[in-house]
Amino acid sequence: MADAKGKILIVDDEPSIRELVKLKLTDDGYECDLAQDAETALSMLSLCAYDGILSDVNMPGMSGIEMLRRIRLTDEDVAVIIMTGAPDLAAAVEAMKLGAHDHLSKPLNLDMLTLTVERAVEKKRLVAQNREYQRNLESMVHERTKQLNSANDNLRSLFIGSIKALAQALEAKDEYTQGHSARVAEESVRIARYLSLSEAEIQSIWIAGFLHDIGKIGVKESVLNKPGKLDAMEWESVKEHPVLAARILDPIDELRDVIKMVRHHHERFDGSGYPDGLAGPDIPLGARILSVADAYDALTSKRPYREPMTSEEAIQIFKDGAGTQFDPVIVEAFLSFTDKRESSEHVPYPIFGSVPLHDAKQLHSQGE
Ligand SMILES: [Fe+2]
Ligand SMILES: [Fe+2]
Repeated sequence: MADAKGKILIVDDEPSIRELVKLKLTDDGYECDLAQDAETALSMLSLCAYDGILSDVNMPGMSGIEMLRRIRLTDEDVAVIIMTGAPDLAAAVEAMKLGAHDHLSKPLNLDMLTLTVERAVEKKRLVAQNREYQRNLESMVHERTKQLNSANDNLRSLFIGSIKALAQALEAKDEYTQGHSARVAEESVRIARYLSLSEAEIQSIWIAGFLHDIGKIGVKESVLNKPGKLDAMEWESVKEHPVLAARILDPIDELRDVIKMVRHHHERFDGSGYPDGLAGPDIPLGARILSVADAYDALTSKRPYREPMTSEEAIQIFKDGAGTQFDPVIVEAFLSFTDKRESSEHVPYPIFGSVPLHDAKQLHSQGE
């Protein structure tokens, strides 16, 4: 019956009731199968999908209630209508609690039978439709989330690429800063991690490390690449670079914290640094961290007028400068792992991935 309103299984041990119900429901437009007991009904259910089941309660062998309990273990949706003898209200209540859609009393009122089956099958259809809708919705949400994540990844990688490109623009101009920005970023992240800063702070510090000297783009190449000591005017122009950097980055609202770190990376803990002469905790924490990382890379890098310091010599400078040039807490944190680590050690970076230390051959930078 291709255009049947639904497929119904009628379960009753009395042949006359089975036939009566089948006759009425077939007349109503349903396709009907018959089972004389619950066991037969369960095996038919395992072979064929039904929209509704009309079942007697008291049958030889398994009861209609037990059959319903078993059906619900594997099928939440199929509409089940229990047919009870008039006095058997307890069975009807039990059946409803187990998930029967409705119940009918014997002797059957055939109009009521039609109405009840129609309602139950319609409810089953709506529930199945709703479940299908939910499934589609979940898969749509899943798909959209994947697309958004992918767009997000693209944006993030574009952002990281832009930060690195800016740093490289400077390094193309200043031969002594090759790899300096990346190393300062890495060293700063190492310190920030050691101090258990939040991921958001670490991310800002990483970006600030890459961009801290970007203001040198505005300093003359002849000054940046001068092989000897700088004269007073040249030195003054180099000292402009933190302010220039803050100006260059100013249009990017998302970098508010980064800009503060960059502007103040040459402040000294005792207040004698530049550009604003901030002291102690007035200097943003990220800037105090950058200051140590920046100085370490500058000291251990080759300069036109001197060879790189050894790690031990640099460490002595930090010990001497703790409390004057540098925040003593940052120095303490930095020294506590600097002595022990391997030079090839990488800093794990969960948001941007690993930021590898550069090859020791590249360690020559001006570092201010
Ligand atoms: Fe620097
Ligand atoms: Fe600098």
